[in-house]
Amino acid sequence: MLTNKPIVLGGDRIVSESIKSCYPLIPDDVLSSGLQDVLNDILKSGMLSNFAKYTRKLESRFCEIFGVKHALTVANGTTGLEILLSTLPRDTEVLVPSYTFPSTVHAIALAHLRPKFVDIDRATCNISLQEVKLKISKNTSAILAVNAFGNPCHLKELEEIAQTYKVRLFFDSAAAIGSKYRGRFLGSFGDAEIFSLSGTKVVTAGEGGVIATNDDDLAKELDCKRNYGYNKVEKDCLFVGFNGKLSELNAVIALWSLRDLERNLTARREIAAHYHDHLKNIPGMQFQQILDECETNFCSFAVSIDPTAFGLDAVALQDCLKAEGVETLRYFCPPMHKTRAYKEFNHLRLEESEILSQRNLCLPMHSHLTLEQAGQVCQALARIQQYAGEINQRRSEPRLKKPVYRPARKAFSPALSLQSV
Ligand SMILES: Cc1ncc(COP(=O)(O)O)c(C=O)c1O
Repeated sequence: MLTNKPIVLGGDRIVSESIKSCYPLIPDDVLSSGLQDVLNDILKSGMLSNFAKYTRKLESRFCEIFGVKHALTVANGTTGLEILLSTLPRDTEVLVPSYTFPSTVHAIALAHLRPKFVDIDRATCNISLQEVKLKISKNTSAILAVNAFGNPCHLKELEEIAQTYKVRLFFDSAAAIGSKYRGRFLGSFGDAEIFSLSGTKVVTAGEGGVIATNDDDLAKELDCKRNYGYNKVEKDCLFVGFNGKLSELNAVIALWSLRDLERNLTARREIAAHYHDHLKNIPGMQFQQILDECETNFCSFAVSIDPTAFGLDAVALQDCLKAEGVETLRYFCPPMHKTRAYKEFNHLRLEESEILSQRNLCLPMHSHLTLEQAGQVCQALARIQQYAGEINQRRSEPRLKKPVYRPARKAFSPALSLQSV
């Protein structure tokens, strides 16, 4: 029951303890988690990096989970993208959504390729198939599709398009470890997929990433490129390379985090179901659509706020939730074609991406979140919406003017004293 006004209008607190938007799945304690022995093992071995025991173990685990031939660990998702994109012929075009994390597009630019921005389907937040078909050309060497917030895009349809036009298909699956298509984990789709293991992801290494592929030749090139481009057998640099190495310490955290993948996914699904049940009747709030035969990992719980129907825009809602003690995140704002870094594309109009970037809000989502806390988020959000009119009015009132800072007068000023004589 809604009993009182939102905090921004002087109401009482619903949220007992501030709720974080994300929280990594990491061990609480080195001793009870069993990590102590593993850390000792690493320290005794003297091997902190260079694709040693735990990195290899992690790669085998990913091969099993993804059902893929090669899983190459890298320092982070961004480096994974940069290494992957460097395999394409220079000066060609790569189709990419503008509604994405900066690294997706930077990797294209850094590989001396041209991004060709493609609009999204607003319901799924993912690349639009019609737009891909419209914009693909003889200059296109690859499609770089993104599984936004972990939600799988039209994987099979994109594979068909890539085959028809004979272009590479890469997936930026940075947020999608644990997402599925027809019951199968993502990781073996297209020519390659990259995943991030940063702290906001479902499986974390602290910092880390994986490139997954079934293509033996591509795997060889990636393997060499992540190690400075150096080939140990030929004792030569075969490519301009990168330092893409994941440290053993990070690999161990990822192995630990991976043990709990299913429990973590179940916890996230429960929170998501709670949000769906309790927020479905809020006017002007849409959930991310999940395609048939797909499962998302709910890496983030993304909603879209229609300012007219909801009564407030996403920024105002974020401010009000913050006052309630609920942290939320807004992603991909501005979309990449509107950023200063890509000013030559600022004139483009990608309507769906631009609208969604204004409307996106990600509610708290992590495996430590309790159903009680999710309930508090829903209650806080519902009462904010109920009082949206009054909040808007309050926000449009002129703020109290800040006092103007005037430096204190100096005790002795020759100029002043002369003037006043
Ligand atoms: C879609 C997408 N691509 C790439 C990245 C970059 O991954 P990392 O932070 O591991 O470099 C992220 C990070 O959140 C992401 O969301």
